[in-house]
Amino acid sequence: MPAKEFGAVVFNDPAFAGTRLNAYACSTCHTERAGDTRVLPGYAMTGVTKRTAFWGGQIERLIDAASFCYQQYMFGAGPLDAEDVRAKALYEYLASLPGEEGAKDALPFTVVHTVTVLTGGDAKRGQAAYSAACRGCHGEAHSGSGQITSRANVLPEVTKDYARLFPAVDPALVVIEKVRHGNSFGLSGTMAPFSQEALSDEALADILAYLGL
Ligand code: HEC
Ligand code: HEC
Repeated sequence: MPAKEFGAVVFNDPAFAGTRLNAYACSTCHTERAGDTRVLPGYAMTGVTKRTAFWGGQIERLIDAASFCYQQYMFGAGPLDAEDVRAKALYEYLASLPGEEGAKDALPFTVVHTVTVLTGGDAKRGQAAYSAACRGCHGEAHSGSGQITSRANVLPEVTKDYARLFPAVDPALVVIEKVRHGNSFGLSGTMAPFSQEALSDEALADILAYLGL
């Protein structure tokens, strides 16, 4: 199999991480196709090998950017090895994706530092936004049907525990905190954060309305 075709397999294969704990492929969080209607936490990989920095400019080398995901989200045992046959194939595949010519600066990655309550969402729009942004991992609202891993809590039912766990906090705010910070900033788990570019406050407010929060 040519390297770039093998790279496409690697990109779409949760087994790449080498542990059954992991349920994600790179493609769980990054699209490689034009016209993908999912709203994903990671950027599209088209043109990624031409970028000069990653993660909003915080990471300088492509392999370090990918290794971060591999270790942080996929339970990968160590950083990716640039000499590994699968890492090389992955690179060939990413380099083969269509993208603009020439080097490009890092794409923006704006973290919402201080979360605030979001109101005025529209439940109908929120249903579509939930499907595009959350359903791929959490499955259907209320049942979790189709969830990618049993660790991805059923929404919004998980919030029923919040009155006990976080008595002084609006449950919606706990959800916003998780969406904006994922497993980062000392939070546990493997959910990735959604930056402002990935998911707007308006879309998040709609999702909360759909979930009845
Ligand atoms: C659980 C979700 C998730 C998984 C799985 C994941 N990533 Fe990421 N990745 C992110 C997020 C979030 C970012 C930060 C936003 C961004 O820069 O795309 C990111 C950033 C990146 C970047 C930097 C892109 C840029 O231009 O800033 C690369 C490269 C990357 N990931 C590669 C990979 C590869 C290769 C895999 C599979 C081995 C992978 N990721 C798996 C969520 C994920
Ligand atoms: C890449 C997969 C993925 C995506 C996309 C995702 N989640 Fe999660 N989420 C998880 C996993 C896995 C958990 C379990 C805790 C962990 O691993 O971080 C989780 C946990 C949660 C929790 C429970 C936190 C707690 O401990 O009580 C909430 C709330 C949540 N997600 C909301 C959302 C919302 C809303 C969306 C869509 C905007 C979303 N998630 C998108 C994977 C994902």
